[in-house]
Amino acid sequence: MTNKFIGIPKNIFQGRSILAETSMTPAEIEYLVDFGLHLKYLQKNNISHHYLEGKNIALLFEKASTRTRSSFVTAAVELGAHPDYLGKDDIHLGKKESVEDTAKILGSMFDGIEFRGFKQSTVEGLAKYSGVPVWNGLTDEWHPTQTIPDLMTIKENFGYLKGLTLTFVGDGHNNVANSLLVGGAMVGMNVHIVSPKQLFPSEKHVEIAKKFAKNSGSQLLITDEIDEGMKGSNAVYTDVWVSMGESDWEERVKLLKPYQVNMKLMKKTKTPADKLIFMHCLPAFHDTNTDYGKEIAKKYGITEMEVTDEVFRSKYSRVFEEGENRKHGIKAIMAATLGNLFIPTISEN
Ligand code: CP
Ligand code: NVA
Repeated sequence: MTNKFIGIPKNIFQGRSILAETSMTPAEIEYLVDFGLHLKYLQKNNISHHYLEGKNIALLFEKASTRTRSSFVTAAVELGAHPDYLGKDDIHLGKKESVEDTAKILGSMFDGIEFRGFKQSTVEGLAKYSGVPVWNGLTDEWHPTQTIPDLMTIKENFGYLKGLTLTFVGDGHNNVANSLLVGGAMVGMNVHIVSPKQLFPSEKHVEIAKKFAKNSGSQLLITDEIDEGMKGSNAVYTDVWVSMGESDWEERVKLLKPYQVNMKLMKKTKTPADKLIFMHCLPAFHDTNTDYGKEIAKKYGITEMEVTDEVFRSKYSRVFEEGENRKHGIKAIMAATLGNLFIPTISEN
């Protein structure tokens, strides 16, 4: 039997913005994870993948960045596009010009826009008014261009995602925690958030995750009980105690000290060594080789914060692989939404 030609299927990603995990269906997240791994293979083998030849990409940053900026720049160039970095002091956004007016201008000149900054409403406004795909490179609420590469890293290590347990320890209501809670639930991973009650994820984010978990079979656990929360983890994940734009160091150090990821905590997983990894979106405070690290050591007498140097450098650690995967995952997101790819089937639910 031969298949009847019914035309080239529409790429369901084309022209879409990725503003949060909820911008995608679970099947689309899984597609992007696999596509990211495929693009990584192409790049490692010097196979050209110029899906965005001749396109212009605007990179808007209100907050500092090493990985996200470098990933968008190198991924854009490797896709054949031209990236332009527009830092917070380079353009009028927010000071002399509204989100709406900025979006209309940028959308008339650029083919895609990345935004990193404070408010989720800014990235949503850019998407609403620019008419081109907008990608969230981190806001106070979500970090979806971290989630796809993180899931790639987990899949590279274990070969699959569904049924594995991802445990986020620390500030359970920050952008990375929100994204992993929802993203993990979408792909059927069990997600544990282990943090003091004061830093639990908001009801809104828990409700979103619960809805997806019901369909995917994911088990969610949000707890301040360290022993219970660590048990059975496959990927132990942490992030800084104080995110960009925040300043309550004293309170966070006090609250989060017991939640530091050290070897004792890793052992509480009771997971065999070959089924356990440590992850961190980076940058990490694992020593005093930074200005902040030195200041905190002087003020609060601790030389390591969310993760000890021992765990950070241990055999469990995948932090630098994870950092590199930012580029490949971000490349997948840009190519899928702007590259007119041939994607025959992805279920829409
Ligand atoms: N993980 C992450 O977003 O890193 P940067 O802040 O360096 O971009
Ligand atoms: N939660 C951190 C993530 C940095 C990549 C922050 O927002 O600063």
